[in-house]
Amino acid sequence: MNDTAASHRFSPAGPLRGSIAVPGDKSISHRSLILGAMAVGETRVSGLLEGEDVLATAAAMRAMGADVHRDEDATWHVHGVGVGGLLQPEAAIDCGNSGTSARLLMGLVASHGIAVTFTGDASLSKRPMGRVIDPLSQMGARFTPSPDGTMPLMLEGAHPAVPIAYRLPVASAQVKSAVLLAGLNTPGVTSVIEPVPTRDHSERMLRGFGAELEIGEDNGARVIRLTGQVDLRPQTLTVPGDPSSAAFFMVAATLVEGSDLTIRNVGMNPTRAGLVDVLRQMGANIEDIDAREVGGEPVADLRVRHATLTGIEVDPAVAPSMIDEFPVLFVAAALAQGTTVTRGLEELRVKESDRLATMAAALETTGARVEEREDGLTIQGTGGEPLRGSANARVKTHLDHRIAMSMAVAGLVSRDGVEVDDTSPIATSFPNFMALLDEVTR
Ligand code: S3P
Repeated sequence: MNDTAASHRFSPAGPLRGSIAVPGDKSISHRSLILGAMAVGETRVSGLLEGEDVLATAAAMRAMGADVHRDEDATWHVHGVGVGGLLQPEAAIDCGNSGTSARLLMGLVASHGIAVTFTGDASLSKRPMGRVIDPLSQMGARFTPSPDGTMPLMLEGAHPAVPIAYRLPVASAQVKSAVLLAGLNTPGVTSVIEPVPTRDHSERMLRGFGAELEIGEDNGARVIRLTGQVDLRPQTLTVPGDPSSAAFFMVAATLVEGSDLTIRNVGMNPTRAGLVDVLRQMGANIEDIDAREVGGEPVADLRVRHATLTGIEVDPAVAPSMIDEFPVLFVAAALAQGTTVTRGLEELRVKESDRLATMAAALETTGARVEEREDGLTIQGTGGEPLRGSANARVKTHLDHRIAMSMAVAGLVSRDGVEVDDTSPIATSFPNFMALLDEVTR
């Protein structure tokens, strides 16, 4: 990382107090723009996450014919082109850092008769795309990827595409969603078989938009069947707060003595809420207040008070429901009493960075005792004592927003602070993170 990158030292701080709301859910924000663009008429979205990843999806939908704009009240208006109506974009679609934009949009394009080049930043260009290339090729799309099946890649959609029944070889909501989005403009029934359930926002939202979608079960696997070429109806949507963003504040308020913080409007969809359960098993004091429904998703306010944590063996079965929260869980584990063992986390190696290697290295710079294994980390906690690393060490974030924010939390519970080499990726998912952190620790 060069010296012009936005390095920042996160210093020990006082208790986290007050009441905050985190920005809108990233997964739901992407999908509201994509599905809005597939409906004829005006979809209105409030609470949209205005982070770089979602703005990349907005720009892509505009480039393929939808009218997408924000009004002065921060409501987003999407005038869609209808199922099958995407236009040939004039230039490559730049997905920036966003794997969700890349994989979901490849699905959407795969069943349109257009050819699109997808590009992204250095992190996204290393991530595996074979997982969407395989099913979308079976549906008839043609891919010209970079070596190793990565981006930049060119995709020629199939028109008409061929419906498939696809069993997910990896637990991935992005792959599931890519196939379902391709199915929207495919004649007949496209099915996805999901042996391990992943976040179900696509299914909930597709139904909300009027898609013909059935969910069943076969030998313990979830089976999702979508009938293609059915018109979608525009919707008025409210995006709940992102549990993956709330996670940093949940862990920070748990770890910093004297904290008492309420995080309002947090999405509590069971396919996303694994971190809350795991922190509670470790002894965290997290209270749900006013559990309710917003935009077809369960939501609650969470009151989080400081608590002493104890290390546990994390059940690998919960991984999909907290897949993005492991970096910050590792920080919690580094401060817990005793040992925390995590397993079954191979997928973390193909996120915005290799999150097992990046977090093991980052925590080591803070003096934490971490053992990296192929499928997880084992962490010996300090029992609540501050982390004591070398004062001059700099954490490498490798263009990964969640590493930067997790290590910001580590800085709050360190003796000398934690220097993060580049905070700019935080803007991909949580543009006001630093401002909110200042606000609640002031
Ligand atoms: C996402 C799915 C997850 C998650 C990502 C968002 C989505 O990725 O890590 O941040 O919106 O579908 P995988 O499908 O690769 O697990």
